[in-house]
Amino acid sequence: MTISSTQAIPQTSAIPEHVAIIMDGNGRWATRRHLPRTAGHAKGVQAVRRVVEACGRRGVRYLTLFAFSSENWRRPAEEVSLLMRLFVQALEREVGKLDGQGVRLRVIGDLSPFEPRLRDLIEQAQARTAHNDRLHLSVCANYGGRWDILQATRRMLADNPGLVQTPERIDEATLSRYLSMAWAPEPDLFIRTGGEQRISNYLIWQLAYTELFFTDRYWPDFGAQELEEAFEWYRTRERRFGRTSAQVDAADKR
Ligand code: FPP
Repeated sequence: MTISSTQAIPQTSAIPEHVAIIMDGNGRWATRRHLPRTAGHAKGVQAVRRVVEACGRRGVRYLTLFAFSSENWRRPAEEVSLLMRLFVQALEREVGKLDGQGVRLRVIGDLSPFEPRLRDLIEQAQARTAHNDRLHLSVCANYGGRWDILQATRRMLADNPGLVQTPERIDEATLSRYLSMAWAPEPDLFIRTGGEQRISNYLIWQLAYTELFFTDRYWPDFGAQELEEAFEWYRTRERRFGRTSAQVDAADKR
């Protein structure tokens, strides 16, 4: 069972155990260079590679990337289809390397609208890396935080129909067991690149006490050094989880 930040005080350390990233700014990175937006996404895949490697080296245990939100279907069909092709290529090309690096890959979200070929590749990649435990890499695809809470509620009630008559028995622990990342601790550090300061329907349950780091840098320009800067900022944060500063100091001295 993972610790809920609203139910208990989680242990924290200098390097965040779980980093969640919104990789924003691919399109603007490309437009600035008079390139098609899709060139920015292709460059973004290289940034994913750099960040996965850096997280592995720095001892991060969980890295969760927002690759495609449930709202991204609203983009031009050509861009959506390029993004799908990039996922397929990345899965085909990178899974061996990820496996060699001890990375366990999971794809999180409602995968039902994806092409069968992409779904097969996802399943194969997940199965191939299932024995790894060094870094848990989750790629959120067709994911939305509200979707996650709804699917969790539906599955909880399907498993426990009696709860409809006794809703007072539903607590955080009961529901959170059905969230799609129930096996992971809540993110310690959230990073959003590209200058926007929004959560954009990402992991909205799990980010309750996460430290939020925003940078103007576009995702294709993000790498090990920028990750280190985010870690440095994270170390300056006092994680109070609802307590006073004095209580935090006293707990740290114990
Ligand atoms: C946001 O930039 C980025 C996306 C919607 C897609 C992210 C995808 C990748 C980095 C490539 C594939 C990833 C994996 C895991 C293989 P934007 O297009 O919204 O940029 P903009 O705000 O500048 O328009």
